[in-house]
Amino acid sequence: MHRIPEPELMLDDEQAHAYAQADFNDPNSLFMQRFASEFPQEQIAGYVLDLGCGAGDISRRFAQHYPQCTIHGVDGSRAMLKYGREMLAQYEALRQRIEFIEGYLPNATLPMAQYDVIISNSLLHHLAQPSVLWETIKLRAKPNSLIFIMDFMRPESFRQAEIMVQEYVGSEPSVLRRDFYNSLLAAYRIDEVVEQLKGFNLGYLKVHEVTDHHFVVMGKYLET
Ligand SMILES: C[S@@+](CC[C@H](N)C(=O)[O-])C[C@H]1O[C@@H](n2cnc3c(N)ncnc32)[C@H](O)[C@@H]1O
Repeated sequence: MHRIPEPELMLDDEQAHAYAQADFNDPNSLFMQRFASEFPQEQIAGYVLDLGCGAGDISRRFAQHYPQCTIHGVDGSRAMLKYGREMLAQYEALRQRIEFIEGYLPNATLPMAQYDVIISNSLLHHLAQPSVLWETIKLRAKPNSLIFIMDFMRPESFRQAEIMVQEYVGSEPSVLRRDFYNSLLAAYRIDEVVEQLKGFNLGYLKVHEVTDHHFVVMGKYLET
């Protein structure tokens, strides 16, 4: 099945609201578990860049789990960031360590030139050019920065995508079911991601399938 792109930015308020309200506990917990198991010996500290942070659930989880980190979440959608900022208002203890920045990648203006950790969940499949993610990593990482990216894998067929919608978001509002379906169709296959990484001299990063519809790209950044 060919990839069918979807709009990059989630600008619509109804869409952003449905996303912010949805229960992403399973994939977002998996994100945190996999990050921890990939870097068990590392002291996770310093500045973290969350690319395409959306309504900020991963930024929040990261800040809670790693108290020595400051998180900069960047997203091009004001609507998504509005829900992120509302969420943050409920977590007084985290407010000093999370900053949400409105910015369109790859040209966003960020507070730091380079980051100790770069994370991203579900951004890659939104990008019109996947190079934006890999170029941003190359620009914003320094040697030994930790890189951890999770995204959807494109299913084999439309039918398979429909089955996954039923299985994973069957009880969510229709706007979210539609978004999930479109996201599955817009996602990359692992072999495509491996080719992208090679093209940016990032072929040393590991790519693992972690569920029937997610992969992760992870490793330490090496200057090449
Ligand atoms: C599916 S959401 C994921 C949000 C969040 N990472 C999460 O896991 O909940 C993808 C986000 O990427 C943002 N996005 C897409 N392309 C972007 C770009 N070029 N620059 C900045 N943000 C972008 C969208 O606005 C959207 O909020």
